[in-house]
Amino acid sequence: AHLVAGVKVSGSRISLVLMDFEGSQMAEHEVPLGAGRHSPEALAGYIGDAVAALAAKIGTETAQISGVGVGLAGTIDAGAGAVHWSPSLNARNVDFAAMLTERMGVPTYLDNDANLVAMAEKTFGLGRGRSDFIVVTIEAGVGMGIILGGEIYRGTRGCGAEFGHTKVQLEGALCRCGQRGCLEAYVAEYALLREADTALGPDTSLSGQIARLLGAAEAGDPTAASIVSRAGRMFAMGLANIVNIFDPELIILAGEQMQFDYLYADEVIAEMRKSIVQVDAAPPEVVIHKWGNLMWARGAAAYALEFVQERAAREG
Ligand code: BGC
Ligand code: NA
Ligand code: ZN
Repeated sequence: AHLVAGVKVSGSRISLVLMDFEGSQMAEHEVPLGAGRHSPEALAGYIGDAVAALAAKIGTETAQISGVGVGLAGTIDAGAGAVHWSPSLNARNVDFAAMLTERMGVPTYLDNDANLVAMAEKTFGLGRGRSDFIVVTIEAGVGMGIILGGEIYRGTRGCGAEFGHTKVQLEGALCRCGQRGCLEAYVAEYALLREADTALGPDTSLSGQIARLLGAAEAGDPTAASIVSRAGRMFAMGLANIVNIFDPELIILAGEQMQFDYLYADEVIAEMRKSIVQVDAAPPEVVIHKWGNLMWARGAAAYALEFVQERAAREG
């Protein structure tokens, strides 16, 4: 069989899909991953084991897979297969694709996780048939994938499209990247929970759980409501910045945190529309794609498939 695998590494798990060359899904798999940063060798080992378990689901083995695509959070030089920085790794400047290729014995292609969601949207999702659009992901962090002329735009060093680290506040809140004032530090789950802890003390009923915080906000708790509404307004500001720079045809909001509506409530979209450059033409379309966790992995598989097909064409 002709197979490619797609892998997404998130803060708490590794999600995988196995696809044939037509893009049909043959198997899926998910394994838990310990929180925090891992050594590159350890993470490569976990990924290798998970791919083997994925292959075993259809009674085959890793060696029968033609290519593996891996999506990782962080700044990644996709061409070089190298990680500049990742919240999942305890080291910088890692030749991670080479390490994975060696560990599994299968050519492995690495890219930023959100870039691969954009790839999934282009191949299987709401971006099908569109050549210029933006995907924003909200999960543990805030990610972005830019599709221009049908291709992923990554920047010169592979560290472009880091929407989560665009600055929205001078000397602002501390971000997981180590800098201050990043958008992510106001809108990601960890940011809201941190604010709830500061405002209410860590042992109150609102701390520790995003669903409870959002529920309290909806029920009219003034502290919870102000935390959530600030996150929404910050996000609106970020979206307006995207529109003012790209003027895209379409913005797709995706990622696990989209199950909560604080980032795409009507007020947020209205606030964004007020903040964009005003012209006498309809503002860009913003759509929500509540796609499951496996979309990231499907994008990674589609990415690997591009290389595998190129290779096959070259080899005739
Ligand atoms: C990282 C991005 C990543 C996003 C989503 C951010 O914190 O900097 O590279 O795409 O989280 O995982
Ligand atoms: Na990206
Ligand atoms: Zn940051």
